[in-house]
Amino acid sequence: MKLDPVETALVDYDLERYPLADLVREQLGVPQLDEIHTTADYPLLTRENDQKTVFHERFYSIGDEFFRVYHRLLVDVVQPLFGENLIYQRIPTFRVHLPNNVAVGEIHRDRDYSHGQGEVNLWLPFTRAWDSNTVWIESAEGSGDLRPYACDVGQILMFDGVNLLHGNVRNETDKTRVSVDFRVIRASQYVARHATTINSKLEFAVGGYFADLAATT
Ligand SMILES: [Fe+2]
Repeated sequence: MKLDPVETALVDYDLERYPLADLVREQLGVPQLDEIHTTADYPLLTRENDQKTVFHERFYSIGDEFFRVYHRLLVDVVQPLFGENLIYQRIPTFRVHLPNNVAVGEIHRDRDYSHGQGEVNLWLPFTRAWDSNTVWIESAEGSGDLRPYACDVGQILMFDGVNLLHGNVRNETDKTRVSVDFRVIRASQYVARHATTINSKLEFAVGGYFADLAATT
């Protein structure tokens, strides 16, 4: 069943209360996230290896404090946008968009990768994101008119990534973009599924790829 799509929209959050960008910068051990290309560089990334840089390895061993702040952001900022309990992506997906490179191997709709209807994508940059270093999204399903969404640190870009074509282009700025993205589903629309994610091979189910916001602290 196809549900009413969310409108692509920006939501602000308080960086002092939810210091996710600082925690990621500390975890990566760099003074400035948008300059991490000076510490390691890669040939053009592809769908197969776009989650396999040294930066991803470091991010995915981040400590509990990051997850405590992530959970607080979900409860305080994200859940009120939906007005009901949410099922959410337990571990956000990390992206690095190095200059002259891509962050995600191909333009796609998340449903192409087994994601289910009802999921809403939330995208949080930890560096200022604009033009060729940000995410590009079509304005309506099937329109094909992908355009860049400028976004600041402290903002969340919400969009229907299951159905809208999205991705990125080669970063022609001289700054790296670092971001995370995750998906939420209204609890009333959640159906556990056995399909698995393309990278981590986790089932799209609570206890696998997802967690229940009301049942976690
Ligand atoms: Fe996607």
